[in-house]
Parts: sequence; C-alpha cells; structure tokens
Amino acid sequence: MSQPSRDQFAFHDPARPEFWSERFDKGFTPWDQHGVPRVFETFAGDVLRGDRVFGGMPVAAVQGGHAAAAVERDRHRLRTSNDPNDPSHPSSPSSPSRPDARLPHVLIPGCGRAYEARWLVEHGFAVEAIDFSPTAVAVAREQLGASHADIVREADFFDFTPAREIDWIYERTFFCALPPAMRPAYADRMADLLPRGGVLAGLFFVTHKPSGPPFGTSLDELHRLLDPAFECLREREVDDSMALFAGVERWLEWRRR
Ligand SMILES: C[S@@+](CC[C@H](N)C(=O)[O-])C[C@H]1O[C@@H](n2cnc3c(N)ncnc32)[C@H](O)[C@@H]1O
Repeated sequence: MSQPSRDQFAFHDPARPEFWSERFDKGFTPWDQHGVPRVFETFAGDVLRGDRVFGGMPVAAVQGGHAAAAVERDRHRLRTSNDPNDPSHPSSPSSPSRPDARLPHVLIPGCGRAYEARWLVEHGFAVEAIDFSPTAVAVAREQLGASHADIVREADFFDFTPAREIDWIYERTFFCALPPAMRPAYADRMADLLPRGGVLAGLFFVTHKPSGPPFGTSLDELHRLLDPAFECLREREVDDSMALFAGVERWLEWRRR
C-alpha cells in the first residue's frame, strides 16, 4: 500500500475494484500479514469463552437462547477443555462441519486473502467475507480451500445484502483502503448493518498519513464518525503489526447503540 511507482500501475482510484485486482495480479500486497493478528485471536478467543457481550447478553446466551446454567456449563467446558477436537477450544481449530449457532455471525468486509475468515470458520463461527475485487475473491477462495471457499463472495460493502443478521464486523485495512471522502459513508453503513448491541471490532491505522492507501486517521476522527451510533468499548495496543503498520495500529471495539 505504500506507493512504489505510480507508473507501475494502470489504475489509481482505490474506490474501484480494478485498483485492487491489479495489485493482487501483480503480487503487490504489502498489507498482507500472512496470518491472523494476535489481538484478533485474543478477542475471538474471549468470544468463544463467552467473555464478550453482544446485544446486551453474553454471546453464548444470545444466539442459542440457552439458559444461564447451560451458558455457565459451556464456559466451564471451554475454559477447562484440553481436547483438540473441541470445535470451540480457542487454540484448537478443527473445522467443524456446521457453525455453532451460539456464536456471533461475523462479516469481514474487504477481506483480501481472508486469513481471519478461515480462523473463524475453523473455530465454529458463521462467517461472511466479502470483497469487490474478483481477484481478491479468487485468492481468498484459494487460501480457504474447497471446504470453506463458499464463505467468500464478490460484493461491494456499500451495496450488498448480508446473508443473515450480523453480530460482529471485523475491520482490518479496509477503512484505511478507502478514500477518506468515503468515511462518513463507511460509518453510516456500519451503523445500518449492525443491530443494537452488535460490535465493530478490529484494527485501525491511526497515524497522520493523508496520502494513500493506506490513508491514516486519528482517534478524534474515528470518534467523530462513529460516536453518533456507537459506544467505544476498548482500545488496545497491537504488538505484532507488520512493518508497514508498526506502532500505529490500534485495536478498537465499538458497540452499536
Ligand atoms: C488493503 S486490502 C485489505 C485486505 C484484508 N482486509 C487484509 O487485511 O489483508 C483492502 C481490500 O478491500 C477491498 N475493498 C475496497 N473497497 C471495497 C468495497 N467497497 N467493498 C468491498 N471490498 C472493498 C479491496 O478489494 C481489497 O481487497
């Protein structure tokens, strides 16, 4: 996403899918982390243990309508299980054949290679990953393998219908990929897509960098954009950023009011 040479590329508008397809085609993907961020795994692990609240209730209770006792039993099982075949164990992916209905439904917009989508689906989450670049969709499907390829689809974040109600929207290098003029539309769309209690959680590129992509932002700007519809629950440092984002990536969690 840093600019090697403008002449190297035919497309210069990051609001267009061709811009991104050309970069995937030419192997210019400096944002690609080749895996999932640690802070993402920590958050998703907390969700699996029922330690995160979506819609005002612990997640294990939200989706399945389980009684509190059943939720506690699940939490105990998840905390104490050493069984690598347990589909909900945070450190033990096992490609469950069906999503766990108690877990939040996740949307990953601008998914790129979709490493996080794979992690989530292998841990039992229902995931919808979208990207408007057909080349990105192709590389994501390859990364996901035949058994999970269908969780990715070609779609524009600003104009698509989710397959189901979404509880968690995961952000990484999507906001910073958009031309800054699109930020109010991003905030409005996030608010439209999430029900009350739903969460926008992920990584934001917080630095002064007006040219891009990646385009930098500030915490002040994020609050201005998101505060009307979201409450900011948490901000965390990120300790395993790739060089391009080192020291300027922040994990933020926003809950839909
Ligand atoms: C910098 S890449 C990030 C990919 C991925 N999130 C990651 O962390 O590796 C930005 C991605 O967003 C996609 N994108 C940009 N605008 C989009 C839109 N309006 N709808 C869907 N995808 C979009 C691009 O095609 C590209 O794959």
